[in-house]
Amino acid sequence: MSRAKIEGKRIGIIGIGNIGSSILRGLLSEIEDAQFLIADVRRESLSAFAANPRVEICSSNEELAKKSEILILAVKPRDVSGVLGAIAPFMEDKLLISVAAGVSTGELERYLADSGSGRRVRVIRAMPNIGARVGESVSALCSGSNAVSEDEELAAEIMSAIGSVYHVDEKEMDVITGLSGSGIAFFAEVIDAMADAGVYEGLPRDSALTIAAKTALGAARLILAGESPATIKAMTASPGGTTIRGLHTMESRAVRAAMMDAVIEATRRSREMG
Ligand SMILES: NC(=O)c1ccc[n+]([C@@H]2O[C@H](COP(=O)([O-])OP(=O)(O)OC[C@H]3O[C@@H](n4cnc5c(N)ncnc54)[C@H](OP(=O)(O)O)[C@@H]3O)[C@@H](O)[C@H]2O)c1
Repeated sequence: MSRAKIEGKRIGIIGIGNIGSSILRGLLSEIEDAQFLIADVRRESLSAFAANPRVEICSSNEELAKKSEILILAVKPRDVSGVLGAIAPFMEDKLLISVAAGVSTGELERYLADSGSGRRVRVIRAMPNIGARVGESVSALCSGSNAVSEDEELAAEIMSAIGSVYHVDEKEMDVITGLSGSGIAFFAEVIDAMADAGVYEGLPRDSALTIAAKTALGAARLILAGESPATIKAMTASPGGTTIRGLHTMESRAVRAAMMDAVIEATRRSREMG
């Protein structure tokens, strides 16, 4: 993807935890000409970037907001209103991209308007996942009421530095949080359980885990190449063989229902948080 729109920009990130640091690392490796400003109450999270000449460590969120043209908010949802309340006076004519789960564009705009100059701030909401650490995030984006197409393109360029990007309606953000934001942990759980079975049957743990993860990757790549899950099952399960025995076991233990419920409950929780 072209990154022409963010080249030369000053991009601030508040919250350099799991997601904020992944976004920063992705941007540093993908974009040559932008400057980055970072702030976090946990000062030790910032020290990893202290030696990088393209990264400026700010002593406060307010300083960061004053100096940045685009601001990425990557703090926990409970911290969003406090942070936005403090930086609102400096957000006029700037773009805010929030990755906070369950915090709607309407709420983001309200927190900024309540404490700000009264001017309408351009807001984009993004839902990445922790695959961002290896450039494999699936990030959904939706726009607030004041954002223009240029802002959507800027946000897409930024999030594409950590993986793939999808534009969605805001009403779909909760299910995307369940399916992708949380869903990556559900796959980790399944891979871990399969690796445990490998260990139970005598494999060393490290090879069992690698083989389980690569098997998951193979299934994912086949599906992304256009094979349906049903075709993968049909190509693997021979009559009276091992796979159909395992699939029957999964069916009798209601694994499909459990996986569906995990996504549905995570989606509900995202709605509750909003
Ligand atoms: N992790 C994921 O898989 C994931 C996926 C999609 C979206 N998200 C969203 O991304 C956001 C960040 O999640 P995360 O997992 O990266 O959280 P995290 O690792 O806890 O990082 C957040 C960082 O922000 C710091 N912080 C808290 N209050 C602050 C303030 N007022 N000013 C500056 N920094 C402050 C935190 O410090 P303290 O620890 O001292 O509070 C922490 O270092 C959340 O809203 C989450 O919903 C996360």
